[in-house]
Amino acid sequence: MKIPKQIQPLVDDGLVDDVISRLMSGKEADVYVVRCGDDIRCAKVYKDAVKRSFKKAAQYQEGRKVRNSRRGRAMEKGSKFGRKQQEETWQNAEVDALFLLASAGVRVPQPYDCLNGVLLMELITDEDGDVAPRLNDVSMSAEQAIEDHLLVMHSVKKMLCAGLVHGDLSEFNVLVDENGPVIIDLPQAVNAVANNNAQAMLNRDVQNMTRYYAQFAPELRHTHYEKEIWSLFENGKLLPDTELTGLFEESTEAADVDAVMLEIQAILAEEQERKLRLRDEDD
Ligand SMILES: Nc1ncnc2c1ncn2[C@@H]1O[C@H](COP(=O)(O)OP(=O)(O)O)[C@@H](O)[C@H]1O
Ligand SMILES: [Mg+2]
Repeated sequence: MKIPKQIQPLVDDGLVDDVISRLMSGKEADVYVVRCGDDIRCAKVYKDAVKRSFKKAAQYQEGRKVRNSRRGRAMEKGSKFGRKQQEETWQNAEVDALFLLASAGVRVPQPYDCLNGVLLMELITDEDGDVAPRLNDVSMSAEQAIEDHLLVMHSVKKMLCAGLVHGDLSEFNVLVDENGPVIIDLPQAVNAVANNNAQAMLNRDVQNMTRYYAQFAPELRHTHYEKEIWSLFENGKLLPDTELTGLFEESTEAADVDAVMLEIQAILAEEQERKLRLRDEDD
């Protein structure tokens, strides 16, 4: 297809060879499938700040470090220079978050570059090599929902250990490939320590995910991962490999939750056995 004008500089620089198709045109970005040599990748082109809703920008940007003080002052004043700086900070926040999270072992697309408002990253695909569906378009068994929900909870934990809260985690910002959920769309990721809204955002992120997976496994509604994760974090006890239970001590439903967790663990064990059996059969 015709090269969109924002991608042209990347073509000129030899980073992109071809634009294959447009995947999505969202409120905040257009997403394209591009070819870079022999690789098929994803290019996310940010829309101008003016076209984007900056309603909640202040809430997200609190605590975000701006190294250069001229830049910081300009951003506060909202001058033209300031808006440009704010725009670049927003775009860099996503590529910075992707690099940080990929190295922290969170399943996110591998980022390659961010240039002129275009983020070049791995294209997430399904087992047939087609673009992976969003979680919103995927339905699954109760066992699968419990397994994938736990994977997302571990991702939220690892993100927090790396100092970030997603801030817009929902079934629209999770893709599903053959290995499970992959988290995307991170320009608004907030600094967990410096931002006073971090806990509220983590609560919302976890609750969104729990609500979605609970459609398939209603027992998940009784879990309280957001409280467990935040409390461990606040007490300096959260590590990337900390086991999570979904239980929270102060929970008034403690008795029920125990029973539910046993049930969940039994289902997980069964699923594990089933997989081992399948693997054995394959051998
Ligand atoms: N790395 C990727 N691989 C495959 N599809 C992607 C990738 N990144 C984004 N998409 C697709 O583009 C859509 C919009 O991207 P997203 O980062 O969520 O931007 P927006 O801010 O517009 O929501 C996603 O919902 C998804 O369908
Ligand atoms: Mg999105």
